[in-house]
Amino acid sequence: MTIYIETDRLILRDWNEDDLLPFQRMNANTQVRRYFPDLLSYRKSEVDMRLMNDIIHKHQLGLFAVELKETNEWLGFIGLNYLPKESKYQFKELPFYEIGWRLIPEVWGNGLATEGAEAVLAYAQEQGITEVYALTAEGNASSRKVMEKIGMSHYDDFEYPNLGKYHPLKRHVRYYKDLTSS
Ligand SMILES: CC(C)(COP(=O)(O)OP(=O)(O)OC[C@H]1O[C@@H](n2cnc3c(N)ncnc32)[C@H](O)[C@@H]1OP(=O)(O)O)[C@@H](O)C(=O)NCCC(=O)NCCS
Repeated sequence: MTIYIETDRLILRDWNEDDLLPFQRMNANTQVRRYFPDLLSYRKSEVDMRLMNDIIHKHQLGLFAVELKETNEWLGFIGLNYLPKESKYQFKELPFYEIGWRLIPEVWGNGLATEGAEAVLAYAQEQGITEVYALTAEGNASSRKVMEKIGMSHYDDFEYPNLGKYHPLKRHVRYYKDLTSS
C-alpha cells in the first residue's frame, strides 16, 4: 500500500481488487450519477479504477479509495484529479488539481465526504500543492455544500463541454481554495 491516510472514521488508501465490484455498482447507480451525463459501464469502471491506482502509485496523489475504519467497508473515493493543460476544459488556469468525491448512497449525509476531503486538503498541502479547484453541476447541492464546508469559494460558472446547449447538466460551477493561506 502506498497511501494510507486516517481520519476519525475513514481510511483513504490506494485501490485493491476487492474495490472493483462495489466501484462498478456505484458508477452504475442512477442516484449516484444524477449529476453526471451518463452511467458508467462495468468495463469503463474497471479501466478507471486501474488508471486511478496507477496514478496514485506514480505520483502519490490521486483519487483515493475510501473505507470505513470501523468495518473496512469500501465507501467510494475522495481525492485529487490532475487536469492537464490539454483537456476537454477551456479554463485559462489549467493545469490544476481538482478535488472530487463520490460515495455510496447508504452513507450520505453523515459528514463523511467533508471529513475525507479535509484530510485530502491537508495531504495536498504537505505535498506542496498551493491551490485546488472543484467542479460540479450547478444543481448538485450536496457536493457544493461539501465544497463550502471545506472552505472553498464559488469561483465561476461554466458550460460543461460536449453536452448539448439545452442539456439539463450544461451549467456547471467551479470552486477554488488557496492552500497557502491556511
Ligand atoms: C456529494 C457527496 C460525495 C456528498 O457526500 P456526503 O458524505 O453525504 O457529504 P457530507 O455529509 O459531508 O455533506 C453533505 C452536505 O450536503 C447537504 N445536503 C445533502 N443533500 C442536500 C440537498 N439536496 N440540498 C442541500 N444540501 C444538501 C447535507 O445536509 C450536508 O450538509 P450539512 O453537513 O451541513 O448537513 C455524495 O452525495 C455523493 O457521492 N454524490 C454522488 C456523486 C457526486 O455527485 N459527486 C460529486 C460530483 S462533483
